[in-house]
Amino acid sequence: MAKDERRVYKIKTMNNISKEGLKLLPANFIASPDVEDPDAILVRSADLHDFEFGPNVRFVGRAGAGVNNIPIDRCSEKGIVVTKAPGANANGVKELVLLALLLSSRDVLGGIDWVRNYKGDAIGKDVEAAKKRFAGPELMGKTLGVVGLGATGRRVAKMGIDMGMNVMGFDPFLSIGNALNLDTRVNVVEDPKALFNKADYITLHIPYTADTKNFVGAELLSIAKPGLRLINIARGGLVDVKALKKFMDAGVVVNYVVDFPDPETMRLPHTINIPHLGASTPESEENSAIMVVRQLVDYLDHGNIRHS
Ligand code: MLT
Repeated sequence: MAKDERRVYKIKTMNNISKEGLKLLPANFIASPDVEDPDAILVRSADLHDFEFGPNVRFVGRAGAGVNNIPIDRCSEKGIVVTKAPGANANGVKELVLLALLLSSRDVLGGIDWVRNYKGDAIGKDVEAAKKRFAGPELMGKTLGVVGLGATGRRVAKMGIDMGMNVMGFDPFLSIGNALNLDTRVNVVEDPKALFNKADYITLHIPYTADTKNFVGAELLSIAKPGLRLINIARGGLVDVKALKKFMDAGVVVNYVVDFPDPETMRLPHTINIPHLGASTPESEENSAIMVVRQLVDYLDHGNIRHS
């Protein structure tokens, strides 16, 4: 078929897929939030569980790392190919982990709030008391446990090493042999208990599935090193919030940073709730959109299924 006679595809875009990605679409791909009877869908985090796919949909591209917002079983039944953008936002997430590590150590947020609400007239003197009140430990020399050694976890592990931390890693899906291909300075363990037992900070980078639901629960927290700071820039459901609260009350977990707040975590003490900003950088949004657009074109135009 001559190039100008190529079949036209209608692509429904949901939640502002980055224009940098959409620019790569060939002329025979019409992308808009308003197309009717789409052949494919590009989505960021809108929940598609109740979405009516329509008879022509053959492809769903998730511009992100997780597919929890896509009804995978229903798509499989209908023969709809679902892809995602693994690693595309890994750097954005890694940088938020760094911020989370620092915010969980030093109560800078409390300090900023204190200054904002200060009503006295001797700030210089009162700052002395604030310096004590909002003080916290440095990262250097502490042990960082990285759970999940995929694209993001590996970057986080490397960042921990760069910050002078002792880094331990565990991955529930990766064989120890593959995990050991990592930076040799990462102490990869086969049992998460070994990591919970030693780490001052633990950061989660595993997908949320039926197997990983409540991964951090009473069993692991009961052997955690007291003073643990837990960082979850992945999915809220990885942590059993009731168990977490119990171990917070007992002083075992001193801080929790979660990038997926829900009513339960918003009521927790010692918790910093972030409104899912891990991938909210123009760079991550662009990288994710570019990856799924390439996958889309490859599939609809050539029948190839790409995973990266
Ligand atoms: C992801 O799974 O990578 C994130 O949820 C992406 C996003 O924030 O949309």
